Amino acid sequence: MPATIVRFILNGRPTEVMVRPMMTLQTVLREVLGYTATKAGCKQGGCGSCTVLVNGEPMVSCLLPVEDVADQEVTTLEGLTPVEGLHPLQQAFFENFATQCGYCTPGMIMVAKALLDHNPHPDRQTIIEALAGNYCRCTGYEPIIRAVEDAARRLNGGRP
Ligand code: FES
Ligand code: FES
Repeated sequence: MPATIVRFILNGRPTEVMVRPMMTLQTVLREVLGYTATKAGCKQGGCGSCTVLVNGEPMVSCLLPVEDVADQEVTTLEGLTPVEGLHPLQQAFFENFATQCGYCTPGMIMVAKALLDHNPHPDRQTIIEALAGNYCRCTGYEPIIRAVEDAARRLNGGRP
């Protein structure tokens, strides 16, 4: 099958890319467009490290044919990061030691972003359930949960 052109909105910018049939969004982001914050862990939908937002909803990009995001809005960690400084979620992960090797961090932050967009005041159990599809081999999860709680406070104008 011939290559095709897929157009979508990436981090607020119209983006056009020539792809082979059935290329995943993960491959396009990392290997064609150079957006390497989206990680490539298991590549089987099991670890969550490749999570991005599609129209505001978290999706594992390793299972998503890029054709499926045609005309949709895709957000990666690069799109969340301000030109200067850090997004409150990034700051909270940093200050709560929620990152060690960092491989899971972009996926965790994208899931947390979607959660806090939908529910600015999640309780602890809701955070745990939201992050259930994202694996971390380093932190034991507790600092990550604390970081999301902390980010929720920051985003709601509370003290860190
Ligand atoms: S790399 Fe996509 S879920 Fe693991
Ligand atoms: S910080 Fe290493 S996998 Fe989570």
